[in-house]
Amino acid sequence: MNQVFQKINVLYKKSDQLLASGHFGEGLWPVDMESGQMMNWLIRFFSLKRGVEVGAGVGYSTGFLVSGFLVTGGKLVSLEYFLPKVEQLEMHLKALFGTEYGQSVQIVPSSFERWIVQPGAEKYDFVFFDQRKGDYLPHLKMLMPKLKKGAFICADNVLSHRDECQDYLNFVRGDKRFESVRFESEQGMELSRLR
Ligand SMILES: C[S@@+](CC[C@H](N)C(=O)[O-])C[C@H]1O[C@@H](n2cnc3c(N)ncnc32)[C@H](O)[C@@H]1O
Repeated sequence: MNQVFQKINVLYKKSDQLLASGHFGEGLWPVDMESGQMMNWLIRFFSLKRGVEVGAGVGYSTGFLVSGFLVTGGKLVSLEYFLPKVEQLEMHLKALFGTEYGQSVQIVPSSFERWIVQPGAEKYDFVFFDQRKGDYLPHLKMLMPKLKKGAFICADNVLSHRDECQDYLNFVRGDKRFESVRFESEQGMELSRLR
């Protein structure tokens, strides 16, 4: 396991303590370690350059993504609207990467809905969805004009929240613009590619 993954693993082990502080609502709900590693590999292998993460939480997933974009010279926009989590997310990234993380991630302390309507010509080749599961499909539809051809979309919890993700799964599997497979992690990650 590489050094950053080992450090993320150490942070995972402290997550119960973090939750017990009572500052972060009902849960942290981190991405599976294997899904995080898969996304990191995807970013590096395909040399992806522009990413969006919806639902960064305290940043377990963000650590895997930033570590990929530091290698490719790319940049991630990381969205989280719950401010106590944003503060902890920044502390986690500093612990993982030092102050260097700022080159590879823009943390946006806001909702996807507010961010997506901002003007901007940027196009994205990587998306990670980990927000409310019923929002995956409407958010994907809003993002479509901003996706590059060949963009990857990773959607977490398609096994653990199968019913809530069903509309999204029907869409990415039924629409010919996408190619879509499930990555069999514990919580299940749908990996789709815009043709
Ligand atoms: C499952 S947790 C994220 C876990 C995180 N990805 C990780 O691996 O550590 C989901 C997070 O999404 C945030 N969220 C939900 N809907 C959102 C939205 N529309 N815009 C931004 N953040 C959102 C919640 O505040 C919550 O912290």
